[in-house]
Amino acid sequence: MTETDAIGSAAVDGAEGRTVAVLRTVAAARAALATAARPIGLVPTMGALHDGHLALLARARERNATVVMSLFVNPTQFAAGEDLASYPRDEARDLALAAAAGVDLVFAPSAAEMYPAGHATRIVVSGLSETLEGAVRGPAHFEGVATVVAKLLNVVAPQVAYFGQKDAQQALVIERMARDLDIPTAIEVVATVREPDGLALSSRNAYLDASQRAQAVGLWRALRAAAAAVDAGERSADAVEAAARDELRRHELDADYVAVADPQTLARRERVDGPTLVAIAARIGPARLIDNLIVSPDGAH
Ligand code: PAJ
Repeated sequence: MTETDAIGSAAVDGAEGRTVAVLRTVAAARAALATAARPIGLVPTMGALHDGHLALLARARERNATVVMSLFVNPTQFAAGEDLASYPRDEARDLALAAAAGVDLVFAPSAAEMYPAGHATRIVVSGLSETLEGAVRGPAHFEGVATVVAKLLNVVAPQVAYFGQKDAQQALVIERMARDLDIPTAIEVVATVREPDGLALSSRNAYLDASQRAQAVGLWRALRAAAAAVDAGERSADAVEAAARDELRRHELDADYVAVADPQTLARRERVDGPTLVAIAARIGPARLIDNLIVSPDGAH
C-alpha cells in the first residue's frame, strides 16, 4: 500500500509490518532526515537488489539508528552503448526488500531531480580512475560514480556509507573522493557475497542464460587459481596472472583484463610479496562481469 504526502514522500509496507518512507526529491529527503536519529547509515544502490545489497543493508542496520538506501540508476556512469536502457528495474520489489531489511528511508530521485538543466560539475578522482574499469569503460564512468556519490553524501549527510568489495576500484575511488573533499562520512567496505559455487552476486547476472551462468563461475575459479599459485609459492605477478588466465580460457571466458595490483593504489605489482589485488573483468554473452580477490603470501585469502 502506498500513500503520498504533501512533500512527495510515500510509505511502502514491507514484510512483518515494517514501513519504509520513499522520498523523491532532495528537499523531501533533507526534511525527513533533519530530525532522524543519528548515526545515519547510507547504502547507495542502483536497485535490482540481491543478497550482496542486503548484506550492506544488514551491516548498516546493525550499526546505525537510521538506515537510508538510495535507489537511482545513475545515467552518467554508463557509457554510450552500455546497458543503461536494459538495466534491470523493479522498484516495487526493491522497496519491499528494503522494508523487510529494516531500511527507514529510501531516496529514489528521478534523473531530472539529480541532474537538473544546467548541472555542470563533475568530480574527477585522478590516478585511481584511469586503470582497470576506467580503461575499459572510459573516463566518464568513475566521474559519474564519484559525482553521484558525492551528491548522495551531501543530500543524506550520513555518518557512515557502505560499499561492496565486489567493486573494489569503485570503493577506492569513493574513499579517495571523500577524503579529498573533506566529506565527514566514514566509508565502510563490506565483503563480497557469493553464490554457493563462488559466483559473485551481481544485478547483471540476470542477463545470463543457463549455459552462460555455468561459464560465469570461471571468474571465481580464475581468482582461486591465482590464490592457489600464490599458496604454492609463486611470487611472480606474471605467473599468478597466467594461472588466472588459464582458468578463464578453460571456461571460454573473454577477459577484458586480469590485473595483479596494489590493493590501495591499483599500481601494477611485479611480485606478490604482500596482500595483492587480483581483479578480473570478462564478457559473457550480453553481460560484462567483474570480480576480485586479495591474495596474500601468508595464505590469508
Ligand atoms: P550497485 O551495482 O547497485 O551496487 C550497490 C552496492 O552494492 C555497491 O557498493 C556494490 O559494490 C555492492 N555490491 C554489489 N554486489 C555485491 C556483492 N556480491 N557483495 C557485496 N556487495 C555488493 O555500485 C553501484 O550500484 C553504483 O555504482 C553506485 C555506488 C550506487 C553509484 O551509482
